[in-house]
Amino acid sequence: MSASDSARQVVECRVCGAADWQEVVSFGPVPLANSYLDPADSYDDEPRYPLDVVSCRSCRLMTLTHVVDPEVLYRDYSYVTSDSETMDRHMRLVAKLCRERFDVPEGSFVVELGSNTGEQLMIFRDAGMRTLGIDPARSIAAVAEEQGIETLPEFFSASTAKSVAESHGQARVILGRHVFAHIDHVAGIAVGVRNLLEPEGVFAIEVPYALDMLERTEFDTIYHEHLSYYAVGTLATLFERHGLRVIDVERISVHGGSILVFVGHGDGPWQQRPAVKELIALEERAGLHDDATYREFAAKVRNVTESLTALVRGLRADGKRIAGYGAPAKGNTLLTVCGLGPDDLEFCSDTTDLKQGKVLPGSHVPVRTPEYAREHAPDHYLLLAWNYTEEILRKERAFLESGGKFIVLHPEPSVVSAESLAAAESVAAARRS
Ligand code: TMP
Ligand code: ZN
Repeated sequence: MSASDSARQVVECRVCGAADWQEVVSFGPVPLANSYLDPADSYDDEPRYPLDVVSCRSCRLMTLTHVVDPEVLYRDYSYVTSDSETMDRHMRLVAKLCRERFDVPEGSFVVELGSNTGEQLMIFRDAGMRTLGIDPARSIAAVAEEQGIETLPEFFSASTAKSVAESHGQARVILGRHVFAHIDHVAGIAVGVRNLLEPEGVFAIEVPYALDMLERTEFDTIYHEHLSYYAVGTLATLFERHGLRVIDVERISVHGGSILVFVGHGDGPWQQRPAVKELIALEERAGLHDDATYREFAAKVRNVTESLTALVRGLRADGKRIAGYGAPAKGNTLLTVCGLGPDDLEFCSDTTDLKQGKVLPGSHVPVRTPEYAREHAPDHYLLLAWNYTEEILRKERAFLESGGKFIVLHPEPSVVSAESLAAAESVAAARRS
């Protein structure tokens, strides 16, 4: 079976059913971003799948044109939630917002879809809730079980929801953090949620925010797992069609700008908070319904890839040694789209055991441990894990102070040093005072 046999082409919009698509960007056949490889002499048989994005002119869902079979993507999935201060703080915030805004009492039942190793559910458990994780990645579900979080190694669907409701009762909170954008059959999820959710329950989903992705040119967050790029208006349309209602939304900074969207039963007790209509109005003002906005995004993507490639190649021509900081999935999109490889980046440093010793899909840059990176410190790090910029720059103060530099992507590709960071900090401090 060839790689393209395991990818389905999207015909109708998964949110509104229309089939009027605007092309946005096309990155061509690209390997799966979380398929880290064992080092080999040749990577000629590495599977590649189309990675193209279109926008629905009716509801403005942005989606990939091809859906890779979830059995291929997720059964042997090795992505584990990053063990970082930023994520820990964020998961605590999610738990707090759910509990405080929606009066979730102690002893409530909390279910998480795509629960990974169970870190988010542990926070609910420690607050006195009953928890259940549902995650199809068998080895990751087993890790969660070992950590004391009961986890079904299944895909969530209308039928899983029904059997959980029968075996465990209905849930007060259902969570889907950064999994919802990975799901093709969102209608089945909505039906499942309607069955499993208590009448006054909330379904809290977290997705990267399409508005942030477009405005900040975060095109590297496009990879095969991320099928949908959602605006609040699009989610409101989706849930309304399935007897549910968006009741609140919060913009949050994780993963380059995300939204935490709270959904209740259409006839449930929760009033819609003003933030929902406010963000939908903001999306209209920002041009999310206009073809021109998506054409501008495509032009910005071209500019960023050209300027980053020129910056890296210029430094290499000056004899500088460059390595990647972090080996996140999005780095694989970035390097593949820019055509950067082992001649440009000597290695990527990453804290994840499962990635160390492997090579990156597509670009085939080797992944090394942070210890190796300290012993072979480059002149410049390309900050691929840019969603942790603050935390990483703080952690790498010694590297910076010894003259090391970072290539950062936002707001545009540029080099930062200890001096330029200190100057930027004093400008910010002057503005604050
Ligand atoms: P994520 O954005 O998908 O969580 O991926 C971030 C990657 O960056 C993950 O593989 C871990 C890695 N990383 C480091 O190597 N060092 C760090 O300090 C942080 C925060 C992440
Ligand atoms: Zn649509």
